[in-house]
Amino acid sequence: MMKRVCLAAVLFVVVLSATVLAAEKGTASATMPTLRQAAGNRMLMGASLMSHELDDARRAAFIAEQFNCLTPGNEMKPDALQNVKGKFTFERADKIVAFAEAHGMTMIGHTLCWHNQAPAWLFMDENKKPLPREVALENLRNHIHTVMEHYKGRVKGWDVVNEGLDDSGPYLRDTPARKAIGDDFIIKAFQFAREADPDAELYYNDYNIEANYKRPKALRLLKELKDAGVKVDGVGIQGHWLIDNGNIKEIDEGIKAFADLGLKVMITEVDVDPLPRRQGAGADLSATQREGLDPYKAGLPDDVQQKLAERYRALFQVIMKYPQIQRVTFWGVDDGSSWLNDFPVRGRTNHPLLWDRNFQPKPAFRAVIETLQQSSVAK
Ligand code: XIL
Repeated sequence: MMKRVCLAAVLFVVVLSATVLAAEKGTASATMPTLRQAAGNRMLMGASLMSHELDDARRAAFIAEQFNCLTPGNEMKPDALQNVKGKFTFERADKIVAFAEAHGMTMIGHTLCWHNQAPAWLFMDENKKPLPREVALENLRNHIHTVMEHYKGRVKGWDVVNEGLDDSGPYLRDTPARKAIGDDFIIKAFQFAREADPDAELYYNDYNIEANYKRPKALRLLKELKDAGVKVDGVGIQGHWLIDNGNIKEIDEGIKAFADLGLKVMITEVDVDPLPRRQGAGADLSATQREGLDPYKAGLPDDVQQKLAERYRALFQVIMKYPQIQRVTFWGVDDGSSWLNDFPVRGRTNHPLLWDRNFQPKPAFRAVIETLQQSSVAK
């Protein structure tokens, strides 16, 4: 009897200390596990970040507590690592890698070849004309080799090519790389990457490739890579989704199509945008137009919070069906750090992630945790 009372007392103290600790850190609520705890060994839970976010001790502790995988949001892109030809600037990316290592987190590299955030000199001459193929290939080869050799053994996998497929055109996006090198620039990028670090996983990463309109192009690309003898380890579905629930079935079918190829599937840049999307780009917005496009400046109303949570739940229910999905990475940590505050319209107040601007968990956080837990029970 006495023993039982003692045990109960010890348990009470342990639970109390955990509660106090969590409260002191100002992060996870005592009754809710963290994302990485809820996912366990089932899959990695990642976030993208900028290195300066680690200067904020509270934010840094929060990131290490919730996630076990990091992707630099910008600082491994070509313009961040080699903006000037031959001058590599690894410092900011190194800082993220060092943080990941210090906290037992996995690192993902993003990205080696992309049409955005890449210096013009890689594939164009000073008159913005495509470089001769051999020169462009050498620039690409040198960039990929130098970057991957720098991070050899420290980065688990790389988004080798990002967004190589066209949305409206028949197949490949007509990027500076394609203009200079030709249609095989993706094959070449993967070959260079495999030479540079044979142990790193190599991914093709893109948005909407799970959707009907773009999936056939992605499947064609993966087949062409295979036919060319290039081993791709996985496909990254970015997962920049909208709050509207309509296309869950399509997403499910898309994931299945890639998983059926025997590839690893990663959801690499998850957010769910609750703001209205404007048709057409570039036009200046009138004050009234802007007002309509930025309706939640004061916070997300309860009904939209619930809708966002249910959308996240439905997405994770699909994600958890596939053992091939080995990682889910959120594009940002809290709503305040999301790129969607500036895309596709600048300066809005967006709410697409699991924590609000004060690091408070939203109903969407609970929905994701519950789905992760239910699925691990079902296993
Ligand atoms: C975004 C970054 O988050 C922003 O900070 C930057 O201004 C633009 O790029 N698809 C991708 C990511 O593959 O690299 C993009 O990241 C978001 C869309």
